[in-house]
Amino acid sequence: MTSEPIIQVRNLHKWYSGVHALKGVTLDFHRNETVGLVGDNGAGKSTLINILSGTQAPTEGEIFFEGRKVSFKGPADAMEAGIETIYQYNSMVPTMSIARNMFIGREPLKWSIGGVGILDTKKMAEESVQAIADVDLHLRSPDALVGELSGGQRQGVAIARAMHFKSKVMILDEPTNHLAVKETQKVLGFVKSLKELGIPGIFISHNIHHVFECCDRMVAMARGEVVLDKRVEDTSMDEILDVL
Ligand SMILES: Nc1ncnc2c1ncn2[C@@H]1O[C@H](COP(=O)(O)OP(=O)(O)O)[C@@H](O)[C@H]1O
Ligand SMILES: [Mg+2]
Repeated sequence: MTSEPIIQVRNLHKWYSGVHALKGVTLDFHRNETVGLVGDNGAGKSTLINILSGTQAPTEGEIFFEGRKVSFKGPADAMEAGIETIYQYNSMVPTMSIARNMFIGREPLKWSIGGVGILDTKKMAEESVQAIADVDLHLRSPDALVGELSGGQRQGVAIARAMHFKSKVMILDEPTNHLAVKETQKVLGFVKSLKELGIPGIFISHNIHHVFECCDRMVAMARGEVVLDKRVEDTSMDEILDVL
């Protein structure tokens, strides 16, 4: 166990033409900690996450991952490093099966000749069943299409995928938006279980109650800046609402 932060963000700026969306954000994310990121619409939360997950480049500033400076050229680079991001509408293909979605971009091959391979569908099905059981999600079959799942079940598959491939950090950007109450509870349960699995998490939600329920630390952003950064036990709803 090392005390070095898993992610260090240093003086991050992002301009979108005339909009200064991030104004010098400096933050550490530690191992064995789930951080809640809160703030009003437009505060810069998604911009920060998009930079950490490789979908956008910063205008200025640095990111260190496990102590090494990184500059992700795209989401594949961040995934390769071990940063898995789950969005409100996650990156699954509705017309493909659960098993295929679990292995998007990482398909196991039975054999391959000159780069042309045959998918190992048996291995995909078996590992999917195991991964889904591991997150306590009960689904009929790995062959069911993702398009037939509820929103909460889809988030469950995305989380199972992240766990199966041993992500080093899991980022969830508003994963409960548009979910029913029961489904939301299920997703909050997944977020809580990250700690038991030893996966550091960054959980973004506009619902501060949810963040209090499943995070160790609160980071509040307003107008592109970090305005509060405290352990949950050292802050309160009132204090957070006050700084937003
Ligand atoms: N792709 C983009 N192009 C232009 N402006 C953007 C883009 N993404 C975000 N912004 C602007 O950057 C600011 C921060 O947005 P965002 O990071 O999405 O905030 P949050 O996730 O906290 O709601 C807002 O003013 C938003 O309009
Ligand atoms: Mg956002």
